[in-house]
Amino acid sequence: MPEQPVPFSHQLHVGRLGMDCTYCHQHVFQSPHATVPSAQVCMNCHNPRKANVKGNSPLLTLIRESYETGKPVAWKRVHKLPEYAYFNHAVHVNKGVSCVSCHGPVNEMPMVRHDQPLSMGWCLQCHHEPEKHLRPVEQVTNLSWKPDGNKPRLDIGYDIKQQLQVQAPMHCQGCHR
Ligand code: HEC
Ligand code: HEC
Ligand code: HEC
Ligand code: HEC
Ligand code: HEC
Repeated sequence: MPEQPVPFSHQLHVGRLGMDCTYCHQHVFQSPHATVPSAQVCMNCHNPRKANVKGNSPLLTLIRESYETGKPVAWKRVHKLPEYAYFNHAVHVNKGVSCVSCHGPVNEMPMVRHDQPLSMGWCLQCHHEPEKHLRPVEQVTNLSWKPDGNKPRLDIGYDIKQQLQVQAPMHCQGCHR
């Protein structure tokens, strides 16, 4: 859990204010990379001349500077695979794998930390039995989703696996290209 240059809290913005992941991680359903938002996105609310939510807060000095200069905020990467392993966000989230399966309850985190090992054995464990983790695609960013009704979680997973023809690679070249 690295110390970040700006004390941005997912617990506040997602957990309390109810913002969706895609408000800030805009490309996660379209692109291999989830990407971290530019200061412009923060300034939708924190601009002292517009919405002015805490517009003059000293905690947001670096955001205001970045907005003015165009120089990105130097966020520290929390999750990073080695170069030789291939990963793709869009493929996973469009098949009903939630952020929570890989990043844990980010909506409860004042600071993002590593929740899962991201090791090869861990990747393969889910690829072997993805049905345990699948949920309706529209619930992927709802980290506290629970099935309603009486249908067991695993049956929902099997249904989605079949509907979306989920096939997670187990062969080496799937992830080492
Ligand atoms: C208001 C904007 C905003 C929203 C909404 C948001 N995030 Fe973030 N997220 C950020 C920023 C800024 C960072 C970089 C700073 C940090 O790591 O805390 C970040 C970092 C992350 C990281 C760590 C990235 C890395 O370096 O490895 C993860 C994982 C993450 N967010 C997941 C989520 C999930 C899951 C949701 C929805 C439940 C979400 N975020 C919603 C702004 C947002
Ligand atoms: C949709 C509106 C909205 C967006 C977009 C937004 N925030 Fe916020 N943010 C808030 C609200 C509301 C608060 C709580 C204000 C309060 O406590 O009165 C807040 C509080 C904060 C605080 C604490 C400020 C203080 O002085 O207590 C920080 C730091 C912060 N946000 C960072 C960010 C960053 C970084 C981004 C962009 C990645 C961002 N916010 C995007 C609405 C937003
Ligand atoms: C199947 C596992 C998995 C799922 C699902 C997943 N992530 Fe990630 N995420 C990762 C891995 C692995 C990395 C590191 C990627 C790398 O180093 O190339 C990462 C990195 C990130 C980063 C850092 C920037 C980047 O793209 O590398 C952000 C932000 C992030 N994830 C947000 C999200 C959000 C938001 C969701 C849900 C909408 C999500 N992730 C779903 C595994 C996952
Ligand atoms: C919680 C479950 C889960 C975890 C954890 C997970 N995956 Fe996957 N992965 C899936 C599913 C489901 C698919 C199948 C997508 C499909 O059918 O298109 C998939 C597909 C893939 C693909 C195929 C992409 C393509 O372009 O065809 C790659 C590569 C991949 N995963 C890499 C990884 C790596 C690397 C990790 C570990 C860092 C990882 N996955 C962790 C569930 C998971
Ligand atoms: C689902 C994705 C996935 C598949 C399939 C996969 N790997 Fe990996 N592999 C990874 C990831 C992710 C890492 C990096 C793990 C880390 O950083 O701890 C890795 C690391 C490695 C390493 C580095 C040494 C180590 O253990 O840290 C070797 C060697 C390797 N894989 C070989 C293979 C071989 C051989 C196969 C086929 C039998 C294979 N991998 C299949 C995802 C995968």
